[in-house]
Amino acid sequence: METKMGRRIHNFNAGPAALPLPVLEQVQKDLINYKGEGLSVMEMSHRGKTFDSIIKSTELLMREVMHIPDNYKIIFMQGGASLQFAAVPMNLIGEGRFADYITTGSWASKAFKEAKLIGKKVNEIASSADKNHTYIPKEFKINSEAEYLHITSNNTIFGTQWQTYPETLNLPLVCDMSSDITCRRVDINKFGLIYAGAQKNMGPSGVTVIILREDLMQKSPANIPNLMSYNVIGAADSLYNTPPTFAIYIIKLVIEWMKSLGGLDVIEKMNREKAGVLYKALDSSSFYKGTVEKDSRSLMNIPFRLPSEELEKLFLEQSVKKDIIGIKGHRSVGGIRASIYNAVPKESVEALVEFMQEFEQKNS
Ligand SMILES: Cc1ncc(COP(=O)(O)O)c(C=O)c1O
Repeated sequence: METKMGRRIHNFNAGPAALPLPVLEQVQKDLINYKGEGLSVMEMSHRGKTFDSIIKSTELLMREVMHIPDNYKIIFMQGGASLQFAAVPMNLIGEGRFADYITTGSWASKAFKEAKLIGKKVNEIASSADKNHTYIPKEFKINSEAEYLHITSNNTIFGTQWQTYPETLNLPLVCDMSSDITCRRVDINKFGLIYAGAQKNMGPSGVTVIILREDLMQKSPANIPNLMSYNVIGAADSLYNTPPTFAIYIIKLVIEWMKSLGGLDVIEKMNREKAGVLYKALDSSSFYKGTVEKDSRSLMNIPFRLPSEELEKLFLEQSVKKDIIGIKGHRSVGGIRASIYNAVPKESVEALVEFMQEFEQKNS
């Protein structure tokens, strides 16, 4: 694709992933001389007035666009979603208590294992491992005595997504939303805690967004490291130490872009259209085969197979020549995977489908 800023490829990377072009253009404009201040956001103090206004407006925009109620705290941390695998149980599982986990893929299993690694008692109450994580479990029994239920909203590697979230009554639902946050509007009130590495749908890598029901902040024990404590970081409004300033500023621009499109309902509609184009291509072909059960399909990550590994290799080689990148399946599962996050334009999905059809004609 040619743009006025130069060539842009069809970017299906799983994360870090495509950012909206208007955001990149704004970053470029602001880079050297932010709003006439004569310096870049990267170069300014995190305690100065300008950054204070950036972080505050990022939060306000998130509240507005993501419909985050006032009794939820928004926190920015570092260490990626993987640090949250440890931070969540460290903060929320009290002495002698336990939590429930549903493992629907590699990341969910890592979250579960990490909790055990730090010595917390956790139960795997359901798993999709029996069918290589090609579905979201429907039958499970939540322990009403658990501190929380942990789920992974969208399974980036396997391409499954919770279509509706489980009812947990009084139990806080804790959700890793790294790969589908902001892909649709969700009722934040259903959750005790949401966390997401920003590098798929919200911004660049280096910042993790945490949305935490405020009463749960009090649960952080005093004897955990300050940088792991929701209570400490939350009380300091994410400025306990130097936050990832530039990454936060980009989140602000991404949320502004979402707002300019009309918000999350519009974005969901766009995502359904984009995913629909690709799923339709898979369903109408006997050459390509989607790997996931239909009622668990993700709007964000779409894995599929070709008739042989040789053809998959050829497919990947030839796709690059069409400026299509990032579609190699994760090394743990193989095959092809297209990640079509919010910022991936519909034209890119159409270009992929066109290439798929040409390839099928030549090779079937
Ligand atoms: C659902 C999910 N959770 C967690 C992670 C790990 O994120 P990070 O690399 O930010 O630790 C990923 C990364 O792709 C992911 O997709």
